[in-house]
Amino acid sequence: MSSINYAEKIPNNVNLANDRTLQRALEHWQPHFLQWWHEMGPTDFESADVYLRTAVSVDAQGWAHYGAVHMPDYRWGIFLADAVPDRKIGFGDQMGAPAWQQVPGEYRSTLRRLIVTQGDTEPASVEQQRMLGHTCPSLYDLRNLFQVNVEEGRHLWAMVYLLHAYFGRDGREEAEELLARHSGDADKPRILTTFNEPMRDWLSFFCFTYFTDRDGKYQLKSFAESAFDPLSRTCRFMLTEEAHHMFVGETGISRVVKRTLEVMKELGTDDPARIRAHGAIDLPTVQRYLNYWCSSSLDLFGSEISSNSATNFASGMKGRPDETQYEDHVLRGKSIKLLMPDGEQDVPMLNALNEVMRESYLRDCEIGLKRWNRQIERAGHALRLTLPTSRFRRSIGPWAGLPVSPEGKLIAKEEYEKKLRAWIPTETDQAFIQSLMHKVVAPGKMAGWIAPPERGINNLPLEYEYVNLH
Ligand SMILES: [Fe+2]
Ligand SMILES: [Fe+2]
Repeated sequence: MSSINYAEKIPNNVNLANDRTLQRALEHWQPHFLQWWHEMGPTDFESADVYLRTAVSVDAQGWAHYGAVHMPDYRWGIFLADAVPDRKIGFGDQMGAPAWQQVPGEYRSTLRRLIVTQGDTEPASVEQQRMLGHTCPSLYDLRNLFQVNVEEGRHLWAMVYLLHAYFGRDGREEAEELLARHSGDADKPRILTTFNEPMRDWLSFFCFTYFTDRDGKYQLKSFAESAFDPLSRTCRFMLTEEAHHMFVGETGISRVVKRTLEVMKELGTDDPARIRAHGAIDLPTVQRYLNYWCSSSLDLFGSEISSNSATNFASGMKGRPDETQYEDHVLRGKSIKLLMPDGEQDVPMLNALNEVMRESYLRDCEIGLKRWNRQIERAGHALRLTLPTSRFRRSIGPWAGLPVSPEGKLIAKEEYEKKLRAWIPTETDQAFIQSLMHKVVAPGKMAGWIAPPERGINNLPLEYEYVNLH
């Protein structure tokens, strides 16, 4: 197990002290990162003491340390999972050959683009969430928001390390650009659409951490398979942190549903107007938020048919999540039937990997749905929350811009436009959700639209002061 050296300016387990040039380059980038955090990170909470976990080792048994930290003093560092001795490439045309410890020249620009695109999402989400602290439903939630934020900051470090260490001057320039683009900026937006969408409320935050961070999980899982070993090791450790982000989303939505069910029982009604008047979020509105954020995240996997996906896989740059679960790791000569707007089509499997990934992502998304629906069922209600199909509200690929219902049926454009208001949040919904967003910061207290969590953080009681605002 490689331990992390905290005496250094940049905590790391990559022996940074032995590579002075790289160390100097990253120490040059560090103040730029801190400046970005100051300007674009969570607003107004820099002096708060936040009960955060910080990575202190990459050991599966106890890799994190918990304690009160001012966010700007968080020890963002570079942590790679331990190397697998003699690791071999696990898929693609070079399967069985030794994994790459350096970037092969012919894949340099593609690998750089993949790393930059992943890296861009990390600070983007921090920017999207920067105002949420002002409307937190509890100190527990405020702490979780900040935990997610500092870890997305660390994920940026993870990608910037790869750019600096393996991509020379181009990599250093890309690292600067990662701080120059901003979420929603008219001139210099973030690369992917979902990461430019504004996030004004906590229901959106929970949906984002549930759906969009889960896309992150799937991207990281596919990079964890990469033949480029430093990328694989970086992503394997990032996945450890990522699990918490989805926990925040899953339990957040679950607590919203729980509170709504309590209010429904109390009032003896499922009338959305009466539930809303009581300060809870009716389930149809929850469904519309799920539809919105799930479909927005579906595009992140790219087009159904993609020559890039074929190249990335065949070359060994990017595998499928959990590659070992499959029997065939080369996929030459394989094909798959995909449903296209004009009927079923036979597509070479290598070109359909985005869709394979998207479908396994959707299956992973079902886990939370099952749990929330069990709550609803136990409360004696017939309504069930559902996921839209992968064809709903797409902006990329053959289904882009087509009038498809959440169930996946191609319908008339007029019908689609009329019904869309029932499928995704309306302005009225958004205004209602906004009206619930008030800061609750008394230790142990919760906003009225969300139930308390089942337990506190790191075995602490729920009443613990997870954020000391002074
Ligand atoms: Fe991340
Ligand atoms: Fe995340």
